[in-house]
Amino acid sequence: MFFAVYSRLINFSPRFKKLSKYFFYKYLAHSAQMNNWKFMNYGYVFIKDLQEAPQLDPSDEPHRYSIQLYHHLIRAVSLDGHRILDIGCGRGGGLDYLKRYLKAKNVVGLDASEMAMNRCRKAYQAQGLVFIAGDAEALPFSDQRFHAVINVESSHCYADMNKFLLGVKRVLHPGGYFLFADFRDKQHVHLLEEQMERSGMIIIKKFDITDNVITALETSHNQKVAFIQKEAPKYLVRFFKEFAGCRGTRIYNRFKTGKSIYLSYILQKPEGALFP
Ligand SMILES: C[S@@+](CC[C@H](N)C(=O)[O-])C[C@H]1O[C@@H](n2cnc3c(N)ncnc32)[C@H](O)[C@@H]1O
Repeated sequence: MFFAVYSRLINFSPRFKKLSKYFFYKYLAHSAQMNNWKFMNYGYVFIKDLQEAPQLDPSDEPHRYSIQLYHHLIRAVSLDGHRILDIGCGRGGGLDYLKRYLKAKNVVGLDASEMAMNRCRKAYQAQGLVFIAGDAEALPFSDQRFHAVINVESSHCYADMNKFLLGVKRVLHPGGYFLFADFRDKQHVHLLEEQMERSGMIIIKKFDITDNVITALETSHNQKVAFIQKEAPKYLVRFFKEFAGCRGTRIYNRFKTGKSIYLSYILQKPEGALFP
């Protein structure tokens, strides 16, 4: 009941959606210490192309599915030696993966939560890895600064997707890539693609990864429940299960019934773009 009402409210008012998500993630960063919690995405399982799954150190195995969502997105382009921005980087696990496994040179994480960024600065101290608090809809970077911009499971929180996409295009080099993954209600997918086209970037690849995400949610269900029960305050256990998309939750059921769809896209800023 609560989630159904909330969902109506956020569809009705983008500003309410943005504010409520902002305070929600601020609260999460403040209350949920959980040092070994590195990702907040639903994860991805390679189904047909099993051989694409990355080799991981044993210490990274607990985060395999979330890492694989990043890996699925970025494997199409070479990031080696380039400057990369991850918008809505959360607890920083994706950037840590990029830096350690894919040898990205300068990696910048941006998230609305100042506290999450402070935590990331303490947890990850590699050279060339920087965390900045800021708003995805007002990117604090100069024009044409990045070879690639990554955005994983964050854009559904934003109030103005057009503004966000224009900002992404502005900070990309001509020919640079925007690597995007997130979910939408089925009836809003065409709007997302209109917004992408309007930004002036070109969609070069698109994947419906709902089945890969559902499989990750199902396969990781027991691990997530055990983790939540061990680490989360008792009064928040149910809430965390909803947030994590465990079996039987609202978002899990929406994926299963096709009402929500999880998509990934690779977009490119045109090579000859004269203006940011
Ligand atoms: C579901 S988490 C995903 C985090 C990370 N990408 C991952 O895969 O683990 C969504 C993140 O988006 C961030 N976020 C939401 N709205 C934002 C905004 N307007 N600007 C920057 N970050 C935002 C939240 O603070 C949160 O950390």
